[in-house]
Amino acid sequence: MLNVALIGLGTVGKEVARLLLYERESILERTGADLRLKVVVDKDLAPREGLRLPSEVRFTDDIAAALDDPSIQTVVELIGGIEPAKSFHRRAIENKKHVVTANKALLAEQGGDLLKLAASRGVQLRFEAGVAGGVPIIKSFTESLAANRIERLYGIINGTANYILTQMTQKGLSFDEALKEAKRLGFAEADPTFDIEGTDTAHKLTLLCRIAFGVEMPFQQLSYEGISKLSLIDLRYAAELGYTIKLLAVAIRRGDAIEARAHPALIPYAHPLASVSNEFNAVTVVGDRVGEMMFYGRGAGGRPTASAVVADLIDIALGRSYGKAVSFSSNLRIVPRDESVSKWYLRFSVEDRPGVLGQIATVLGKNRISIEACLQKGNPVDGAVPVVMQTFEACERDVRQAIEEIARLATIREETRRLRVEPLTSE
Ligand code: HSE
Repeated sequence: MLNVALIGLGTVGKEVARLLLYERESILERTGADLRLKVVVDKDLAPREGLRLPSEVRFTDDIAAALDDPSIQTVVELIGGIEPAKSFHRRAIENKKHVVTANKALLAEQGGDLLKLAASRGVQLRFEAGVAGGVPIIKSFTESLAANRIERLYGIINGTANYILTQMTQKGLSFDEALKEAKRLGFAEADPTFDIEGTDTAHKLTLLCRIAFGVEMPFQQLSYEGISKLSLIDLRYAAELGYTIKLLAVAIRRGDAIEARAHPALIPYAHPLASVSNEFNAVTVVGDRVGEMMFYGRGAGGRPTASAVVADLIDIALGRSYGKAVSFSSNLRIVPRDESVSKWYLRFSVEDRPGVLGQIATVLGKNRISIEACLQKGNPVDGAVPVVMQTFEACERDVRQAIEEIARLATIREETRRLRVEPLTSE
């Protein structure tokens, strides 16, 4: 029997409570795990719609009831954020309790210490719900794919951003309209800036890298960018080049190093990731034995996330652990941002006169950037036209340098827009 305390009765917490209360018998029958919800802690003790806590479950605003009671074996933290969540984790672990959480911000920014502390106390800190909601990606890395060396992974792991991009692409909605709807549907973080500026994707990528490559990926070194500056014009040009734009988490093994980044990227229409729409998440993984594999499902929302939380509780009850997967034993280096390599989409706003393309191509060439495709359409507006170029692989430093030089050309009208292109090939 596993006695559980739940901290935080929000969208996910409520669904976890429902599962533990209403499905206890069926979970026991299916898995052999006997999960008992004993304590629920929230600073707001108002009754929750659709959830009646039985009298044997203590509902309190006293955190000690979860963290210090010796009869509680596992604490589920679902309040999110760094503090007080971090102190709660520490106290629970110090008191030799397992911790299950969906708190990717905490684990990405400060999880290394907490994982080491948990290992030293002989308890588990589990976070399946922290990466792609209901999609069992952490467990797949630690168990089903454990025989593989992971070569690369690509993920659409923020439901809110994916919902917004889908609505913009398919319905031509504005960014603001789509964000409002995502918030109404309950996908967005308490602070949606994390969703739209790529922070949440980067947090999740940090966790994925730890599990997939065994590296202690410092979140602060991760390069990330969001979708708030994307315009419909880039979505349209991308479509003309055969791509759609997704907010992508990328991690690639390059020799003895890992290149990890999160940003909007053009991906080919023909790849299965391109059809991952709305709040759905997906991760494709390339393992050295299994080849390419894709995981797909609901990455946000109360019920899918609760499904992952309770799966972690079942594993703890049955004595299953991540083993050495979170021991950061790998010696892989992290590729510095400047050296990261990809193909690029560049949109210039230029004066419509002879020789302009030649000037741009010269600067790109001087910076070792080779052009793969070029697109110029439409009539000039106030004498300026958009010119779109797709490049072959080039490193970030060279592209930044070239754009700075191009900005100084007299024929350039507006800031150049640059986005990465990911062909997503598996070789
Ligand atoms: N805000 C997150 C998302 C929730 O939109 O994906 C799940 O982490």
